[in-house]
Amino acid sequence: MGFGRLQRKEDPRFVRGQGNYTDDVVLPGMLHGAILRAPVAHARIVSIDVSEALARPGVRAVLTGKDLEPLKLAWIPTLSYDVQAVLATDKVRFQGQEVAFVIADDRYAARDALESIDVEYDILPPLVDARHALDPDAPLIRDDLEGRTDNHIQDWECGDKDATASVFDTAEVVVKQEVVYPRVHPAPMETCGAVADFNPVSGELTLYETSQAPHAHRTVIAMVSGIPEHKIHLISPDIGGGFGNKVGIYPGYVLAIVGSIVTGHPVKWMEDRSENLMSTSFARDYIMQGEIAATRDGKLLGLRADVLADHGAFNGVAQPTKFPAGFFNLFPGSYTWEAVYGKVTSVYTNKAPGGVAYACSFRVTEAVYFVERMIDRLAIELDMDPAELRLKNFIRPEQFPYDNKAGFEYDSGEYEKTMRHAMKLIGYDELRREQEEKRARGELMGIGISFFTEGVGAGPRKHMDILGLGMADGAELRIHPTGKAVVRISVQSQGQAHETTFAQIVAEEIGIPPEDIEVVHGDTDRTPFGLGTYGSRSTPVSGAAVALVTRKVRDKARLIAAAMLETRPEDLEWEKGRWFVTGDPSAGKTIQEIALAAHGTMQLPEGVDGNLDAEVTYDPPNLTYPYGAYFCVTDIDKDTGKVTVRRFLAVDDCGTRINPMVIEGQVHGGLTDGVGMALMEIIEFDSDGNNLGGSFMDYLIPTAMEVPDWETGFTVTPSPHHPIGAKGIGESATVGSPAAIVNSVIDALRPLGVTALDMPCTPARVWDAMQGHAKAP
Ligand code: CDP
Repeated sequence: MGFGRLQRKEDPRFVRGQGNYTDDVVLPGMLHGAILRAPVAHARIVSIDVSEALARPGVRAVLTGKDLEPLKLAWIPTLSYDVQAVLATDKVRFQGQEVAFVIADDRYAARDALESIDVEYDILPPLVDARHALDPDAPLIRDDLEGRTDNHIQDWECGDKDATASVFDTAEVVVKQEVVYPRVHPAPMETCGAVADFNPVSGELTLYETSQAPHAHRTVIAMVSGIPEHKIHLISPDIGGGFGNKVGIYPGYVLAIVGSIVTGHPVKWMEDRSENLMSTSFARDYIMQGEIAATRDGKLLGLRADVLADHGAFNGVAQPTKFPAGFFNLFPGSYTWEAVYGKVTSVYTNKAPGGVAYACSFRVTEAVYFVERMIDRLAIELDMDPAELRLKNFIRPEQFPYDNKAGFEYDSGEYEKTMRHAMKLIGYDELRREQEEKRARGELMGIGISFFTEGVGAGPRKHMDILGLGMADGAELRIHPTGKAVVRISVQSQGQAHETTFAQIVAEEIGIPPEDIEVVHGDTDRTPFGLGTYGSRSTPVSGAAVALVTRKVRDKARLIAAAMLETRPEDLEWEKGRWFVTGDPSAGKTIQEIALAAHGTMQLPEGVDGNLDAEVTYDPPNLTYPYGAYFCVTDIDKDTGKVTVRRFLAVDDCGTRINPMVIEGQVHGGLTDGVGMALMEIIEFDSDGNNLGGSFMDYLIPTAMEVPDWETGFTVTPSPHHPIGAKGIGESATVGSPAAIVNSVIDALRPLGVTALDMPCTPARVWDAMQGHAKAP
């Protein structure tokens, strides 16, 4: 009971094919929508002729941007206070942009009709390379925004510029390095989609949607559509992976709603794989110039990051309002510095809008990758072991809570202990000996390290909001008369086993077995308001709400138990599952007995309602800061440049561990993601702005063939401010692993003089590096 390796409660329905995803929803009279997308990256729309498409059999309606303009729905707000076209009215600004929407009797009729729409484009020069976005002669992408004369979005900075400059002025060693985190895509197994069902009589909209944040989506949809919020019922059924991809509001969702209003029928829109990869939010795309200052014996002094961020054609970055560069504030990593300074400049390009926090807490992935690559670059410069360099500069346990000099306060950590544990588990010294022998034989073996600190669990609400909605989460707990319970939460599982682990939190706190506790999520009519699941915030925020609501019920149960036992509440003591009289353990009442009494005929104490229910909204005082030590061993084929990840060890510290089996699953998945990004995945564009990563033939995602048997370990350093001491874990491995893999590849190539290499380390890029070119053309 309580915490431990409980089997996942949701798996019986998943492994038996009984999951219920958005595309499984079939409503009477339902029609199907398909989107016509721009074939080019930048062009003015001269005309759109839909007459032929409308005349096709089975076609009920064809919408263009002009049809949406009178409804004020041609443009919608993005998560970063920009606007995004639902259907293009003036120009198309990226390949794959939404141009028209066909509604037909079935999916095939809708798709076929797309080919009959005649669009005349006046092609404009595309802006593909963010490095040229601010050139004086760069094409202006956002001429729809009044007064705009260039492609600059905004500048953001953190840390102390002047103090950092003086550290650099006097430092013994300064190393510079460009570190690129390329554009990648979350690519969940289930693509995005919606089924909208508008009832013109009642004015109610029922919306099934692939959403990681049902309540926030409902509020935004109410604001955008004008449909009153209480008339919108948003259901986010089973989600086949989100990874940040299902945080934003996409044009397709809006089109399904408009389609239902226009036709009077439910309308389903479900994108295909290429549409998902080409048009829904990308992630990363940060070009980072790094500088590190240190003493000759390896004491870290200063760190500077100057970042160029490619946000695509509409600034749809998902992040709290006051954090336009997400949590890039974490770029100082796990180390003490005299001073740090970070700057991010974001620009428009003719690419899909974004970016989303792909399995990370906003921009923490970029920050971690940056600092961990920089530390290794310094280690090369100093000819020092990278593990030793890290050990020498870790924040020490007694320094917590730690101000990272870039605006964030880390809650707890025992970095050296975790690092040494990992070094022991992987056999670090032995590996270095093996590497020496192999190098003597001319073989290319690498050992890479990444030690990361994440910040997860956004709010607090006074500092963090999405479109003005404070980042807090509600929980409601009801204990039925028979002692069975239902807990309703505002976050949304996309495969993370919330139905299991949130039941475990209730079980741990109140002693009802987890199998007697139902977790309800993903339905705005059945759950309390909250900001949803992304950035590993479920456990830090909603998990805390669940612990606190259970304690509230426990406190109420104490009052009732005291009445039942004819004693005072302060004379009772709690042991898991029951209140008993201090000094007389045999005189007690179980939570099930108390639940029955709460709903029974007994006279309840003054002020106690006749139920055993409670609700809370949890506003986190700070983020939680999980961390980990990751080690990667690679072998590189000298004849082909192919990288094999031979071993990978992840030692994670996420504070109190609710379900170690679920945690391992989360870590395994994240590490696999990391291999994908480090070795295979990239959304590239040619000079015309054609997306070269628009299918799984080109955008390679890892399978079991590309990954090793994962090795894992853990330490436990509870969060001091979280009710159960838990920190998030869902995204740690995606955040921490790419740097370990790339550092390992660079380490393998050290005998050839390689000091830097950018992701993805494909055979071609590695081969180029082996020939003395740091980057492939
Ligand atoms: O927000 P998201 O669910 O993606 O991430 P999370 O809060 O890190 O949780 C991922 C899964 O791991 C959930 O089922 C958590 O309850 C579980 N977990 C755990 O068992 N122990 C922790 N300390 C953290 C998460």
